[in-house]
Amino acid sequence: MNELRALEPDFWCAPSAHNTQPWTLTYAADEVAVGWDPGRELPVSDPTGRDLRLSMGAFVECCLIVCADAGLGIAFRPDPGPLRVGFLHRAAEPYRTPFTTADVRARGANRGEYHPGRLPDEVAEGLAGMRRVACRDLADLLRAADLHQFGDREVTRELRAWLRLTRRHRRYLLDGLSDRALTLGRFEALALRASLALYPALRPLGLPRLLAGASRGLLDYDGDVLVLVGAAGDEVEQGRVLMRHWLTLSGLGYTTHPLSQIIDCAPTREVLAQRLGVDDPASLLHVARVGRPKAAAVPSPRVKRS
Ligand SMILES: Cc1cc2nc3c(=O)[nH]c(=O)nc-3n(C[C@H](O)[C@H](O)[C@H](O)COP(=O)(O)O)c2cc1C
Repeated sequence: MNELRALEPDFWCAPSAHNTQPWTLTYAADEVAVGWDPGRELPVSDPTGRDLRLSMGAFVECCLIVCADAGLGIAFRPDPGPLRVGFLHRAAEPYRTPFTTADVRARGANRGEYHPGRLPDEVAEGLAGMRRVACRDLADLLRAADLHQFGDREVTRELRAWLRLTRRHRRYLLDGLSDRALTLGRFEALALRASLALYPALRPLGLPRLLAGASRGLLDYDGDVLVLVGAAGDEVEQGRVLMRHWLTLSGLGYTTHPLSQIIDCAPTREVLAQRLGVDDPASLLHVARVGRPKAAAVPSPRVKRS
């Protein structure tokens, strides 16, 4: 299985919440265990591990696509265990997929402005498990979720640990969310850094409201938000589905901007479930706006591993 090692830089192109890149590969003679580093979990903002497992699924899908493109017969066997989701193992045939390594490299989140316009019906209908909502219909929920997120001292502290708001940050080129990936200008990044540093003092003075205000208007245009609905507990498989949908969209010139805070916050998750007519709010697994971006995004960095 050593031949997989050379492909790892492309495996790492997978997306992950806060760009934590939690995945680990442990090589044995006949198989490779796919696991995660507990130091890269988000215990406060992702207490159920939903986003961790979605990210692991997206990673598995990337591994399979990249191996298939290299002509390697590799399959995935789910086998959840301690800090593990399953194994990559040899298979008679390469994984059957319409996607290539070039597709995996080309995909990226884009948090900038999108051109107005809804997804064509035939594109939306091809995204199994995805429900689509008009951006404007979720603007109130985004505002409430942002207020909730920035009002929570511990969630904000955890987010801050993964922010890379200055190029002088020692992990700027490795992981986390950079000023450029967040499309912040120099002064916006500086202001955010300063206000988060003073969070404990400024919180009672209304800082959460100010921070939440940064996303005001984000959904105030004629666009689409996609909500992935699937069985809670099956997130690794759903993460694979999510990755395939993102690659489909990316191949058509669309990008996505996840807005997980809407389902991280219980009250907004419940309202969204009601609006979608979904009985179990826990089955809302991912939320992202989607559209044609006005400008290309700066790619997020990846940890260089040997
Ligand atoms: C399960 C999951 C949840 C995510 N949630 C958010 C989110 O709430 N907000 C956001 O801006 N990006 C979110 N992202 C996007 C990641 O931050 C992004 O994938 C990561 O920074 C790597 O960047 P890239 O996707 O451009 O390669 C999420 C990604 C995944 C896989």
